[in-house]
Amino acid sequence: MRYTGQALAVVVGAFLAGACGGGAAGPAGSPADGSPAWMHRAITPQMMRSNYDAWAYVHGVAPYGPGGVGNGAVATRVGVPPALQVGMPGAGIGTVVGVEGGATMPTPARARLEAAVVVNLSCERCHADVAQEWRGSLHHAANTEPAYRRAFAIEPLPFCRSCHAPEAVPTEVESSLVGGLGVGCVTCHVTGDGAGELARNAAFGVAVLAAPWRGAGKPPDAPHGVVREARFGGAEACAGCHEFAFPTARGGGVESLMQSTITEHRASAAAGQSCASCHMPAGKTGRRSHGFVGSRDEAFVRSAVTVTARRMSATRVAVTLTPANSGHAFPTGDLFRRLSVSAEALGPDEMVMGEQERFLTRHFVLRPGQIGRRLVADDRVHGEAVVVELEVGPGGVGRTIGWQVAYQRVAHPNGVDERTATIEGEVRVASGRLPP
Ligand code: HEC
Ligand code: HEC
Ligand code: HEC
Ligand code: HEC
Ligand code: HEC
Repeated sequence: MRYTGQALAVVVGAFLAGACGGGAAGPAGSPADGSPAWMHRAITPQMMRSNYDAWAYVHGVAPYGPGGVGNGAVATRVGVPPALQVGMPGAGIGTVVGVEGGATMPTPARARLEAAVVVNLSCERCHADVAQEWRGSLHHAANTEPAYRRAFAIEPLPFCRSCHAPEAVPTEVESSLVGGLGVGCVTCHVTGDGAGELARNAAFGVAVLAAPWRGAGKPPDAPHGVVREARFGGAEACAGCHEFAFPTARGGGVESLMQSTITEHRASAAAGQSCASCHMPAGKTGRRSHGFVGSRDEAFVRSAVTVTARRMSATRVAVTLTPANSGHAFPTGDLFRRLSVSAEALGPDEMVMGEQERFLTRHFVLRPGQIGRRLVADDRVHGEAVVVELEVGPGGVGRTIGWQVAYQRVAHPNGVDERTATIEGEVRVASGRLPP
């Protein structure tokens, strides 16, 4: 079977009509058979190839084509059983396909274009509660969030698109539909390595990836195939996108990583807990939240550490940060995230008589002539308590010293002086005053 635009429109149309009994909501403009024109865009072998190349680029593995791996090798590499590669005829209505250890975990650069948008709408119609949570999440906003748009304007690389608009073709400007989807239900739940996978699965009823059933009794019947995989219930469900190297880095250790959340998690006290256990807490219904709580939730950010401060001398304070609800370094994720730890001697009318500020972060240097940076130091809170000593100078003698710990989302570090960074958002984690 070849995935021409026609075939795609037919299978996607059939899925929507059969499973959900409604027409697709999408831009108007229909060819003769009544389906919207945008459904007819073909997924070509070139797109499948650029999909794999972008994935390989992100993960530093062999490119597609001469000297690299071919189509067959892609399937073998991820070990997808033949039954799943050929369209899952066995994955029809209500069938549970168990492929423990075999399913592909979510990856960047899926490049399934409008087919992804259409099938995603069908997921949303039946799973309305989950959809509502996901619509408010940064996953859904991954390609539209202003912080990302500003950063992408400075560095508009296909590399970025592969994660922030994973259903787009990384090397092509995305449509607003595909970009607006962000990281969709289908990106995480309908995996597989070929760009035709989604259309192929839709023909038989999409088989979705799920964590092992933990509820009492038998899981409720689903009108689609369900592939239960232990790895999807662990950090591997997130690893494809939440850890990666700078675009030009090859091989390399942790110093070439742009984000290192998975490695940090593995080395943390919470290594035995899944990412979902903190980021997808079960709500009233007992179902896991798809809001993906993170840096925008102040109480959640504060829960990462407990903070105490004491005066060591007339002019010095020690601020101690002890990991609490922490599943990785604090902060983790984006390379510019940091903690500001500061103290100031307070004079009459709160006038600042002396101060010091320190930043706990991954400290990078630029690599002249190359894209990306190299890690030279990492003093974030990870694993054990961190004590930060601050000296406010002679102004502190006989005066109250105020202290603060703030979590900062940095838009750009600007110069080498860390104080000149542009701050996009801040959460005050803890603060207090120490009398003379
Ligand atoms: C025609 C309605 C319908 C459509 C379309 C649909 N689902 Fe479902 N799905 C269900 C029902 C009903 C269940 C079983 C009850 C439940 O778990 O909510 C289910 C179960 C699931 C489960 C398993 C939950 C578990 O662990 O037991 C997942 C995951 C899931 N669906 C995701 C999706 C995704 C992703 C899509 C889109 C590709 C999708 N569903 C499309 C109705 C639908
Ligand atoms: C970023 C990845 C991601 C996205 C996006 C995502 N999911 Fe999930 N979903 C998961 C993971 C991982 C689990 C399993 C968590 C666990 O139980 O460990 C899950 C669980 C579920 C479940 C079972 C929930 C439960 O606790 O019983 C359903 C149903 C579901 N997802 C549907 C959807 C639908 C519908 C969408 C889109 C509106 C969606 N998901 C988007 C990763 C994702
Ligand atoms: C297909 C790639 C992809 C997968 C898979 C994925 N994520 Fe994400 N995730 C992203 C991107 C991209 C963002 C950034 C969105 C933005 O621009 O703010 C993000 C953002 C987040 C955030 C919000 C971060 C913040 O600053 O608040 C959390 C939390 C998160 N992801 C958790 C998870 C978890 C848990 C999983 C696994 C169950 C997962 N993600 C799987 C791509 C992915
Ligand atoms: C024990 C709970 C816990 C576990 C497990 C956990 N996290 Fe977090 N995560 C947090 C808390 C609390 C925050 C907010 C404080 C912070 O920024 O670290 C957070 C923040 C984040 C952020 C926002 C980035 C930042 O720090 O600004 C991302 C992305 C993220 N986590 C991804 C993951 C992924 C991926 C995993 C699994 C590999 C994971 N988390 C496991 C608790 C957890
Ligand atoms: C392999 C996947 C991947 C690639 C490639 C990638 N990102 Fe991200 N990006 C993420 C994840 C995951 C997060 C969430 C971590 C966090 O919020 O700290 C994120 C977060 C961000 C954020 C913070 C967004 C916010 O809402 O606060 C910005 C800005 C960003 N990325 C820009 C870029 C740019 C620009 C590029 C290309 C140079 C890029 N990213 C490439 C996965 C990726």
